[in-house]
Amino acid sequence: MDRDQETKGSRDRVSDLSLGTREPLRCSTGAAEANPAVVARGLTRVYRRGAETIRALKGIDLDIQCGEFVGVVGHSGAGKTTFLNLAGLMDRPTEGRLTVLGHDVGKRGAGFDALRRKNIGFVFQEFYLMPTLTAVENVLLPTMWGRGNGEGRMSNVELKGSKHRAEELLNLVGLGQRMTHKPSELSGGEMQRVAVARALVNSPRLLLADEPTGNLDTLTRDGIFNLLLALNRDSGLTVIVATHDLSLESRFTRVIRLEDGEVKNG
Ligand SMILES: Nc1ncnc2c1ncn2[C@@H]1O[C@H](COP(=O)(O)OP(=O)(O)OP(=O)(O)O)[C@@H](O)[C@H]1O
Ligand SMILES: [Mg+2]
Repeated sequence: MDRDQETKGSRDRVSDLSLGTREPLRCSTGAAEANPAVVARGLTRVYRRGAETIRALKGIDLDIQCGEFVGVVGHSGAGKTTFLNLAGLMDRPTEGRLTVLGHDVGKRGAGFDALRRKNIGFVFQEFYLMPTLTAVENVLLPTMWGRGNGEGRMSNVELKGSKHRAEELLNLVGLGQRMTHKPSELSGGEMQRVAVARALVNSPRLLLADEPTGNLDTLTRDGIFNLLLALNRDSGLTVIVATHDLSLESRFTRVIRLEDGEVKNG
């Protein structure tokens, strides 16, 4: 099967993937009130470089509900990655309140890493694949996080299940023929698709994707976008995508426009 056919078939197979042996994707992490996925109030992030101060987010207010498929758009430097890093619990606000999946990010404590590992998938703008690992090993990596650190070793059965899922995801993103390639043996767009598969391997409740289609041709971009749409529609995965790509705007259920660290609508 060639790549186009594989990508085209992704929407048909996505339900099997998410509803198979694993529990369906849901936003709630157990707390009854955890219906909003992300709530920001006066969210501020200031970067300091020596004497220089950069106000990347200037006190934004936002509500993103579970089940939404939201695009965060805006010019380069508007604050999109800064917002995604905060929502993905990879950074902390300078000021303001941020609640992610019912957890107050300002009150970060033990259990936060597990929350991120188990419930949040992240596609980095720069991919961050491990150069020494193959595509399938890169996708498998998040299934191993936390193991040996209170969560116990993975049994052979679990490992087999995870490997099967990683392979299925690589098939879904059209990389069935590239499983054993290392990042240096992949094109930019292929690396990007490995990063998308990796973000989905733990069946997250919330997917944050930073320019996930930036390196892709139109056809492959549509395949990846349709996969995310199908996961959102069929499994209720909450998806937040940062993008420059104006042609994608009409396909989001809602667009949040950032301009120089401020929300201009939403
Ligand atoms: N670690 C950092 N230290 C200092 N300044 C930073 C840092 N990260 C980002 N910035 C600055 O913060 C602002 C917002 O950056 P951010 O990466 O969030 O923009 P963006 O909207 O994602 O842009 P792009 O579309 O180019 O990816 C920019 O002016 C950037 O130069
Ligand atoms: Mg960015």
